[in-house]
Amino acid sequence: VTTAPRRSLPRRIVSPFYWKAREWHIGLLRPHLSVQRAAWADEAQPGELSFHESDQWRRSDDFVVDSRAMFGHFGLGPHDYEGKVVLDLGAGSRLRTAYFEGARIVAVEPLAEQFRVLDFSDLDTAYELHAVPGEEFLPQWEHKVDLVVSINVLDHCYDFPAVIDNVARYLAPDGQALLSFDVHSHADPLHPLVITPRACRAVFRDKGLEVTHQSKGFGTDLPYRWHGHPPYALNYVLRRRAASGSAPSGSGPSRSGPSDPAGGG
Ligand SMILES: C[S@@+](CC[C@H](N)C(=O)[O-])C[C@H]1O[C@@H](n2cnc3c(N)ncnc32)[C@H](O)[C@@H]1O
Repeated sequence: VTTAPRRSLPRRIVSPFYWKAREWHIGLLRPHLSVQRAAWADEAQPGELSFHESDQWRRSDDFVVDSRAMFGHFGLGPHDYEGKVVLDLGAGSRLRTAYFEGARIVAVEPLAEQFRVLDFSDLDTAYELHAVPGEEFLPQWEHKVDLVVSINVLDHCYDFPAVIDNVARYLAPDGQALLSFDVHSHADPLHPLVITPRACRAVFRDKGLEVTHQSKGFGTDLPYRWHGHPPYALNYVLRRRAASGSAPSGSGPSRSGPSDPAGGG
């Protein structure tokens, strides 16, 4: 049995104030929800490619172990999507969604052609692989996707509202989306977008999506609370809003997950 390391008394006293201050700071941030596609293509994506080419974590078994822990954290089991369609938006060089046994994986990855030749890549095992950004819509999957997964991607995109519009259009009536991405205090070349909690919830509403789960970080299930950048990853599970205003029925993550920015809840 492993237990989380106990924090020192001074850290336990200071920590709540620290996180409160970070929350205020995030609340004051100006969101940055879109940039020119050319800037994304010329700056962010070349950096992304070289990052994946040299990334050791994705080559290792830890990638599988961590991905399993992450999906489990959201109450998603490996057999939940057998025979169903899972769209992995921003799939990267190795499929996290390989976790879903027997699912038809539709991988959307703008760098797919460059990634699939890397020696550790399993992108070619996807049911379909599309070398396009999430801002481009695949009409053949309209209202046919049971689960949209997007992990550590949305802050890397160039048009957040356009991606979310597509997510809403992909979802089958009982489908759901798991979106997890880092909040940044400023944009940088690899992360052109600053997506704040308030701004993204407004976009979700506008695109007809209802939030069924929201949290920050991953509690104690994972040894980190962000994907690559502090202060934390924001996690959302979404469904299409039913016309009546109530969510469609169906199975979904059973856990509400942590909402503590320190990732401890
Ligand atoms: C940090 S990686 C995460 C990859 C994968 N989801 C994972 O968790 O391992 C970010 C990925 O987002 C992709 N990406 C960047 N902009 C995108 C866009 N506009 N649409 C879809 N994917 C995008 C990148 O090419 C890269 O593969």
